[in-house]
Amino acid sequence: MATAIEDWKSDLTARLARVMPEPEAELYLPLIEEIRELKARSGAVVVAHNYQVPQITAGVADFTGDSLAMARYAAKTDASTIVVCGVRFMAETTRLLCPTRKVLLPAVDAGCSLADSISAADVRGLRERYPGVPIVAYVNTTAAVKAEVDICCTSANAVEVVESLAAPRVIMLPDRFLAAFVATRVSCEIIPWAGACEVHERFTAADIAPFINSDVVVLAHPECPEDVQKAASFVGSTTAMSDYLIRTSPKRALLLTECSMADNITVAHPGIHFERPCNLCPHMKRITLERVRDSLRDGTTEIHIDPALAERARTPLDRMLAL
Ligand code: 13P
Ligand code: SF4
Repeated sequence: MATAIEDWKSDLTARLARVMPEPEAELYLPLIEEIRELKARSGAVVVAHNYQVPQITAGVADFTGDSLAMARYAAKTDASTIVVCGVRFMAETTRLLCPTRKVLLPAVDAGCSLADSISAADVRGLRERYPGVPIVAYVNTTAAVKAEVDICCTSANAVEVVESLAAPRVIMLPDRFLAAFVATRVSCEIIPWAGACEVHERFTAADIAPFINSDVVVLAHPECPEDVQKAASFVGSTTAMSDYLIRTSPKRALLLTECSMADNITVAHPGIHFERPCNLCPHMKRITLERVRDSLRDGTTEIHIDPALAERARTPLDRMLAL
């Protein structure tokens, strides 16, 4: 009779084999088992973003989702240690929402072009230029930037957040394409910042052209350029795209976002054929199983935020989560 350990191993291998050769899936098993043991021993939880590779999401993550869902999970969990498989702003958000827990980011060099596109001084400059205009910051920002704004948003709730302000003009930073997405869905004027995601800004309408008038369902993230969003059948956060596909289960789809999204959906819900192109986020890909193991074993790398700064940066996140 198969033991419980053999059962999860064969089940996981079968699921991973939907997106990689079976021998490759088997190669990950010892490390996955080691990570599961380290988690059980320490009481730590692993939270992963939808752009993490399936050996992390299906193999070791306790929770996988978009930025909003990760923040909500962090706000609720009572685990003493949270390992964030994502990029630095996600680990900072977790730390802000869980100030008494140990928050670990396995790859301390996992940045984000959006978070790098604006500084706290830039936000203060916007305040001077547009006195009285509320400022919404995408969560893809540093804690120092969050400390200067009125409320945060993610791609899942940006429209709702802007509408909640009931203001005639709203500043949205730092992603100009998310700002354009929101501007078409709200009645107020949106003043954007000129930042962009280095992964999504590379998609073009030419990428979609071969699939127009075909049975391929095209989905885009709101960080994609406006013409790409317009040509897509659905625009939404990473989890919203995934939910849309699970709900409608088309035979073929094109996901204009990070490549691991399609793999994760295939591992969890097989049956959809994914067309290319997709783009890799080099920052997300800095997280590996080895680094997750090292993080749990050695405590690398703990995220600390100056308490006075954290106090100010937490307020716009709390306002977002209270909506
Ligand atoms: P989501 O909030 O949609 O998961 O997006 C986060 C992100 O970094 C997309 O590039
Ligand atoms: Fe940042 Fe873009 Fe990577 Fe998301 S995909 S983490 S926005 S660089």
